[in-house]
Amino acid sequence: MAGTKVALTGIQPSGTAHIGNYLGMIRPALELARSYDAYYFLADEHALTTVRDPKGLLDYTYEMAATLIALGLDPKNVVMYRQSDVPATFELAWILSCVTPKGLLNRAHAYKAAVDENEAAGRTPDDGISMGLYNYPVLMAADILVVDGNVVPVGSDQRQHVEMARDIAEAFNRTYGDVLVLPEPLIQESVATIAGLDGRKMSKSYGNLIPIFASPEEQRKLIMRIVTDSRPPEEPKDPDSDNLFRIYEHFAPRDRVDAMSARYLKGGVGYGEVKEELAEILRDVFAGPRARFEELMADQAQLDKVLAEGAQRAAKVAGATLGRVKKAVGLTS
Ligand code: TRP
Repeated sequence: MAGTKVALTGIQPSGTAHIGNYLGMIRPALELARSYDAYYFLADEHALTTVRDPKGLLDYTYEMAATLIALGLDPKNVVMYRQSDVPATFELAWILSCVTPKGLLNRAHAYKAAVDENEAAGRTPDDGISMGLYNYPVLMAADILVVDGNVVPVGSDQRQHVEMARDIAEAFNRTYGDVLVLPEPLIQESVATIAGLDGRKMSKSYGNLIPIFASPEEQRKLIMRIVTDSRPPEEPKDPDSDNLFRIYEHFAPRDRVDAMSARYLKGGVGYGEVKEELAEILRDVFAGPRARFEELMADQAQLDKVLAEGAQRAAKVAGATLGRVKKAVGLTS
């Protein structure tokens, strides 16, 4: 699509994809693919900052690729690739690090949080902090800038990283001329986070998640564990403050959401009934994708082929950007 803006986003293959990832990143990504020239990549090198299990990293990478395709990302329409298959990104990351003020990285939320935690525990500030964690924002800037990304759809927790990518591109352009495209974050607040089983944000680190492709029986069991208050069925309830309803409303069709909301307010619906309904809805929503996911996971050669094709397409754009950059800085003539 010539002249179309480029949207790019990365997802770390650092765990099994859950319905919070689906609502926060995957579903919006599917929609964006319709109006942008879209690049979706598996950020396996970023995952290396936390994953220390080689087999796990590989498995999660395939799983995430299969998940995206099963849910409807069409690798013919979208450029889907694995970060480590596009090495131009790393060359660019080094060049960018040479124009990135160290102070900028000192202000990164993830780094600051790690330092604060060390200080609170009486350890030295940088205890256990790798250069990978520290340089994370520079690699992320390279991911974005190497494909001339215009917009970066991410959750609100990633806003600072995208803003840093823009700052780094500006720093580069100030020194070397107008070479890099300035990216912007695209934050969809309405779907940014979803509560997990215990009411905290659904996240791997809290162990409170519902995997997208767990079996319907397993999903039902997890749903039964969603924490609610202890109001009996006949009592009126507030849908907006109920975790269960807040998951339900993202998956049920509009008319059922409205009807359920009315029943909450009026009284007469028990949480058990809502849970059963949610389990059924999830079973139906993911039935087709689950079959496709299982098919893909059983055929690694096909996934390898899809990833190789994606890498080839991404490498073409990345190579052109890197060429421009190397010329601008004096690494090539
Ligand atoms: N840091 C992002 C996350 O954890 C993943 C990511 C890596 C990314 N590189 C990116 C997202 C480039 C958008 C663009 O969610």
